[in-house]
Amino acid sequence: MKIIAGNWKMNGTVGALRDMYAGMSEIQTNNNVIICVPFTLLNIQGSNGIEKPTNLSIGAQDVSAHNNGAFTGEISAQMIANTHAKYVVVGHSERRQYHSETNDIVREKATRALENGLTPIICIGELMEEKQAGKTFDVIECQLRNSVPANQSGIIIAYEPRWAIGAGLTPTEKEIADAHALIAKTLESMGLANTPILYGASVKGSNAAEIMSIPNVDGVLVGGASLKPDDFIPIIESVK
Ligand code: PGA
Repeated sequence: MKIIAGNWKMNGTVGALRDMYAGMSEIQTNNNVIICVPFTLLNIQGSNGIEKPTNLSIGAQDVSAHNNGAFTGEISAQMIANTHAKYVVVGHSERRQYHSETNDIVREKATRALENGLTPIICIGELMEEKQAGKTFDVIECQLRNSVPANQSGIIIAYEPRWAIGAGLTPTEKEIADAHALIAKTLESMGLANTPILYGASVKGSNAAEIMSIPNVDGVLVGGASLKPDDFIPIIESVK
């Protein structure tokens, strides 16, 4: 059983969700399949004649670090927990890059998610400059130690090398294996052994099975190839 999580980013309408639900309702899988959709789609189930298939869970893509109050435009963990969502992505590299999210902010967001019964999918990963400077391991260890709430189980980690996201580039199998081994070892030292570790960045039907056969890869976080059932379902069906 693997975790196959889709991240729709700023894409997706009710029609696209309907198509995904229709595609998923035609398959059987033992994998834990999640799609992280825009806030506007978190509560569509049961309305507009759309029923979510039981083999699919829903997640959000971000959450406020605050509980509630005067934060115009933000969405709290309590609000997300009030929808059909069970998961929320936090610290995605696009949030870190375009919205200046620091490790401290990411940790606060993950904490709010946990307090409200949501599973945070906490993203980490190095930039190309950091990779070229030989700092990959330092960066991902530092992000892990500072973005993950202390002594909290019930989280998922997603390792996404930032230089490979949406770029059609993937690290070598050895690079993925080494990064995931370091992440597993660091999580163990933090008392979080057995935390699932996903790989993300340019995952598609043609490379998903190979990536998920690498040790310590418990699943994938998929961006572009999660938007349409024709692309996403082959990833789900590539592993048992
Ligand atoms: P990608 O995105 O699969 O389009 O590379 C992955 C992600 O950003 O989560």
